[in-house]
Amino acid sequence: DFYDFGLIGLGVMGRNFILNVADNNFKALGYDLDQEKVDALIQEGGNTERVNATTDLKSFTEGLSHPRKIMLLVPAGKIVDQVIENLLPHLDEGDIIIDGGNSFFTDTDRRESYLQEKGINFFGSGVSGGAKGARRGPSIMPGGNREAYQHVKPIFEAVSAKYKGEPCVAYLGPKSAGNYVKMVHNGIEYAMMQLTSEIYDILKKGAKLTNEELHETFSTWNSGRLQSFLVEITAEIFDQKDELTDAHLVDMILDKAKQKGTGKWTSQNAMDLGIPIPTIDMAVSMREISALKSERLAAEKLYPKKDIPALDKAKLIDQAEQALYFAFIMAYAQGLHQLADASEEYGYDLDLATIAKIWRAGCIIRAGLLADISEAFATEPKLPNLILSSAFVPKIQESISAARELAITAINHGIPLPGLSNSLSYFDAYTSGRLPLNLIQAQRDHFGSHTYERIDREGIFHTDWKEK
Ligand code: 6PG
Repeated sequence: DFYDFGLIGLGVMGRNFILNVADNNFKALGYDLDQEKVDALIQEGGNTERVNATTDLKSFTEGLSHPRKIMLLVPAGKIVDQVIENLLPHLDEGDIIIDGGNSFFTDTDRRESYLQEKGINFFGSGVSGGAKGARRGPSIMPGGNREAYQHVKPIFEAVSAKYKGEPCVAYLGPKSAGNYVKMVHNGIEYAMMQLTSEIYDILKKGAKLTNEELHETFSTWNSGRLQSFLVEITAEIFDQKDELTDAHLVDMILDKAKQKGTGKWTSQNAMDLGIPIPTIDMAVSMREISALKSERLAAEKLYPKKDIPALDKAKLIDQAEQALYFAFIMAYAQGLHQLADASEEYGYDLDLATIAKIWRAGCIIRAGLLADISEAFATEPKLPNLILSSAFVPKIQESISAARELAITAINHGIPLPGLSNSLSYFDAYTSGRLPLNLIQAQRDHFGSHTYERIDREGIFHTDWKEK
């Protein structure tokens, strides 16, 4: 009897994903070089005949039904190419390789066309939701050949997270569409994490909230319009005691955030496209600033922070809720704007309503807001930016004043809220019919004869600017 699905890379993600496949009545076969990982899977999946694993690539590929559907859950980078090379001699035309890692999208394009020549279908598929998501239902973002996707579809729809019964997976587009969408998902993830930590900062330093109160506040928010995975786990984090000391664990964690690159790639590519995503950019910059711990400590000595008087708790909590809501909208708006542009640039033909839909459950950025976002794009599919959505105008209008007040308070007290203030400036600039960049054009023409356009007539102009 053949196995329906093969999985290479039996780390935590791989093991959980394959067990999820088996739970859904598909026979799944795992492969890993590491005997211990193979044994661990067989042991964990032992109560079912639907899952097995091997360290032998030949018996792995011979055990799979045709066309073979083989998913890779291995670290992004050269390893993916190595695994593909090792697999190739054992594959037949029409077989399908799915890369479930956070591969860089141009790598996916390269692999897809390389494998296409050999008659192999390659799918770059974003998988979000961490280890728990892989086990219980991730959000899956596949891109590649549309016809070949039909072979993978039943398995992916079964294992994916469900939002009110709807699977959080959809064919997104050709080539690297899936990886690209996952990359931007991570950019939004970075922004939402940064915004959440800024709100934590002002509530702690400004309103002097204890961890218990922070836990309460975020829990309450999570049952309102801020309902989201990140707000939910943030509430849980404030409730966690340290095992080594009497403190809360969050207070014992070093304030240097690591990153594996997907947020940075989002920003880099947005720059290439010419699409502004300053909240995401700032989230990347803040991870960089966080890494400069010793410099920060030295600088703090030179510019000591003034004590912050206890601010009105209830007022600050209310403003913080509105500010976070406003800024979450800006983070999604920027990411989706980038996707709309990339769709044109790379020929992905993305449907933003579908993307927002498959993000409603399973993934790290899942949030109640995504149902509204999905509806907004379903109603107005050609929306260049969520800010222009008629459904979002009132939501933004109603939360922006509080967001401004919170930012002013933070700035007055020297509490950094760069994600929130960037979100506000982004909004203010995007909604300004006239920006002061006429002056930049004048400067460019003044020092470099770079020419300018006029508001009152067509053409390209240059002026010999008067000099002293
Ligand atoms: C997900 C996550 C995941 C990513 C982590 C860590 O959607 O499940 O995006 O793919 O690995 O978020 O990313 P950083 O190490 O860059 O923070």
